[in-house]
Amino acid sequence: EKGTYPHYMLKEIDEQPLVTRKIIQAYQNDNNELTIDADIIQSVNDTDRIYIIACGTSYHAGLVGKQFIENMAGIPVEVHVASEFSYNMPLLSEKPLFIFISQSGETADSRSVLVQVKELGHRSLTITNVQGSTLSREADYTLLLHAGPEIAVASTKAYTAQLAVLAIFANVTAASKGKELGFDLVQELGIVATSMEALCDSKEGFEDIAREYLATTRNCFFIGRSLDYYVGLEGALKLKEISYIQAEGFAGGELKHGTIALIEEGTPVVALATQESVNLSIRGNVKEVAARGANPCIISMKGLEEEDDRFVLPEVNEMLTPLISVIPLQLISYYAALHRDCDVDKPRNLAKSVTVE
Ligand code: M6R
Repeated sequence: EKGTYPHYMLKEIDEQPLVTRKIIQAYQNDNNELTIDADIIQSVNDTDRIYIIACGTSYHAGLVGKQFIENMAGIPVEVHVASEFSYNMPLLSEKPLFIFISQSGETADSRSVLVQVKELGHRSLTITNVQGSTLSREADYTLLLHAGPEIAVASTKAYTAQLAVLAIFANVTAASKGKELGFDLVQELGIVATSMEALCDSKEGFEDIAREYLATTRNCFFIGRSLDYYVGLEGALKLKEISYIQAEGFAGGELKHGTIALIEEGTPVVALATQESVNLSIRGNVKEVAARGANPCIISMKGLEEEDDRFVLPEVNEMLTPLISVIPLQLISYYAALHRDCDVDKPRNLAKSVTVE
C-alpha cells in the first residue's frame, strides 16, 4: 500500500536506502562476509564471457553491471537488449554464461532469449525481484533483488537494487578468484545507503529543478561520460516515460559528432559529473552546449564541485556513483510529471510488465 504517499513512485524512490540495507544483509553470511550460492560461483569461475540480457531500465543496470564485473572480477562482459539479441545473436564464446536482469521476471523479450540459449545448452542466471517468476524458474540460478513489490510502472528501487546485487555478484566473484580490491563493499554500500537517505531528504531542491528546467520544455538532454553516461540513459528513459518530454541520454564525447546540432536557446541539458576520471572532459562538454544557448543543470559530487553546479551529491566510492546519481534524476522526472499533470504511476501506453514480444 502507498500509505501517506501520493504516488507509488515516490514511495518506491524513498525505499531505496532501506532496500540497499536489506540487500547487504540478505547477501551476508554469519561472519558478515558477502556470499552467493557456491553453484553460481562455480559457474562464473568456469565461464570465459558473460552475456547480460535485459530490456529498458534493467538493460541500463546491465551496462553499469558490466563495469562492475569487468573491473572487479576481470571477466569480459557483453550487454544486449533482449529484443535485438534474438535475431542478431553475436558469435558466442566457448563457455558463455547468460545473466538475465528483469525486475518482474516475466518480460517476454528476455524469456525468448532464455529459451533460445537453453536450447543451445548454455548456463543461465536470472537477477529478479520476483521469486518463482518465469525467468527465475527457467534459468539455472537466481539472485533475488529483495526490493519488495514495485508497483509504479517507472522502475526506481529495482534499478538501484539491481546495481547493488550486481556489485555484490562482482565482488564475491572477485574474492573467489583471490583478487584484492582494496575496499570493503559492505562498508561502501552502507555509505551509499546513508547518502541515498540524504538525497531523499532533499526533495524540495529537485522539485525546484523540475519546475525551473522542465515545466514547459519540449525536450531535454542528459549527458555524462563512462558510468555517468549510463545513468544519463536511465534518467532520459524515466523522464520520457512519465512526463512525455522528449529526452535523450548522450555520451559527452559524442555530442560534437551530431547531437549538438539539436541544442537551441534554452534547451535543458542535465550533466552528470560524479567521476574524477572524466570530470574535466564532461565540464568541457557543458561549456560547449552552454556556448550554444543550452541551459545546463550540473549534478556533481562532493570533492569535484564547482561554483555553477546545481546539486552536489554526497561522496561515495567512484564505482558506486550510479546508485546515488540516479536518485536526483528519478525525483526530477517525478516532479516534472506532476507539474505537467501526468499520471505518474500509470503512464500512457505502458504496462508494468511487458509479456508480449
Ligand atoms: O521487468 P523487467 O525488468 O524485465 O522490465 C524491463 C522493462 O520493461 C522496464 O525496465 C521498463 O523499461 C520500465 N518501465 C522503465 O521504468
